[in-house]
Amino acid sequence: MLGSPWLLWLLAVTSLAAGAQPLTPQDPEEEEDSTATPLRPVPCDYDQCRHLQVPCEELQQARPVPCLCPGLSSLAQPPAPPRLGEVRVVAEDSHAEVHWCAPASPVHHYQLLLWEGTKAPHRGPLLNATIRRATLRGLQLGSTYVLCVVAANDAGESLAPGPGSEDPDGVASPTFGPCGRFSVPPRPSTLVHTAIGLGAALALLSCAALVWHFHLRQRWGCPRHH
Ligand SMILES: *[C@@H]1O[C@H](CO)[C@@H](O)[C@H](O)[C@H]1NC(C)=O
Repeated sequence: MLGSPWLLWLLAVTSLAAGAQPLTPQDPEEEEDSTATPLRPVPCDYDQCRHLQVPCEELQQARPVPCLCPGLSSLAQPPAPPRLGEVRVVAEDSHAEVHWCAPASPVHHYQLLLWEGTKAPHRGPLLNATIRRATLRGLQLGSTYVLCVVAANDAGESLAPGPGSEDPDGVASPTFGPCGRFSVPPRPSTLVHTAIGLGAALALLSCAALVWHFHLRQRWGCPRHH
């Protein structure tokens, strides 16, 4: 007889403890208590590698409860170098898709530097701070390029090695640095033609060898048959 009310009470206590909404209306004091329990700050939905990513401070301002942003370097300093990600080369229309990740610094804009061998770097247009992806057009087939991503703010630009430097940082380890090296393969039809040419040459050679072999046999006969 006493068992079921006890059980209900226990259930009510455990559901309250589990944070479920109580069914009974509460007086304002208790409600204030429940909002006063410190809300756990959650990280903002910010991804330093996401294309068209709104700056984290803007995400923070848009929320009623501020979320957490990654720490940034001082505004009085130039940004740290961005991290160059994948460079996808599409040889058929000689372009490349570039992707990078933001540094943990305030960034005003990005710029791409591209050069071939020891030629002077070509500077791309200014890209706003939300951008993480760009397309390089007009690449030359069969060429090798070095690409660097530069981040800039009012204090200056992030470091990027120039074409003069011997072993530029980041070019050797493109996984972590702002720079990377990539090659545009030669025109696919050139490869096909080369393969056909090689195949034809091989076939001709083997034909010539066969002809020569039978010619010799006819001329001198086979010694075993005599
Ligand atoms: C940044 O550039 C992109 C693409 O050009 C554009 O869609 C976006 O509105 C720009 N954002 C700002 C804040 O200017």
